[in-house]
Amino acid sequence: MSVEASAFAHRMFVAAALAREAGQIAKRRFLDRSSFTVGFKGPQDYLTEVDGEVERFIATRLHAAFPDDGFIGEEGEGRVGKTGAPIWVVDPIDGTSNFARGAPHFCISIAAVLDRQVEVGAIYDPMVDELFAARRGGGATLNGVAIRASTVADLKTAGVEVGWNMRSGADAFLGLMGRVVHAGAAVTRSGSGALALAYVASGRRDGYVENHINAWDCSAGIALVREAGGYVSDYMAGDGLRRGAPIVACAPGLRDSLIAVAAIPGLAP
Ligand code: IPD
Repeated sequence: MSVEASAFAHRMFVAAALAREAGQIAKRRFLDRSSFTVGFKGPQDYLTEVDGEVERFIATRLHAAFPDDGFIGEEGEGRVGKTGAPIWVVDPIDGTSNFARGAPHFCISIAAVLDRQVEVGAIYDPMVDELFAARRGGGATLNGVAIRASTVADLKTAGVEVGWNMRSGADAFLGLMGRVVHAGAAVTRSGSGALALAYVASGRRDGYVENHINAWDCSAGIALVREAGGYVSDYMAGDGLRRGAPIVACAPGLRDSLIAVAAIPGLAP
């Protein structure tokens, strides 16, 4: 079974429409905070009922539109697709800690991956109505307008987000953060890796680094940064899709310096 380019154009269209629709569900629930309870999957790993609801909504719609495709979702929805069919990789709410605590910085992230290539990526921030979309070879857009990664080429004038999670351990995070700070970059941590990558693609940030990130958090963002002319390490080189991997993504002019400064063990450049 081979998947034609036009099939990805169709998937791009569906992913963008679904991200918007799912985003409206998430936004409605976010604005009525008494409508959901907040729990934890593990230490500092927030989970709300809305994550599961939005994931089931997206999974059901994608299965109806593309019954042969596989599915990997953060909240456990999973389906093995037909051999040679694309796999949808979905984070129903990226930035769950923000969502759970009433901070309006979260998004829906939907990607289609085939043969370790992210073919389609859509990230929607419902609180500011921003849809970031990219198709391999077709460019990247924000609300339909082409976007490009920044032209910054010196870490001393760069803004870099350092992703944090409980999986990698405090020392690894502090080491990475310290190296980026020592290199002279301004650092942030926003709590949504997907939006951070979309911001690199649109030139709002110059780089994103994390010791370990899961595929649902970064697959759509990988397509966006690449299609916006930026650099992304070879996230899918090993088993990133199933087990997660480190990531460096940045403006093209920062590629060598950020890889060297980040010095993340196991990074596939
Ligand atoms: C997390 C966020 C965070 C990143 C973590 C992710 P979640 O995802 O994207 O920015 O640093 O690696 O686990 O829990 O908000 O879906």
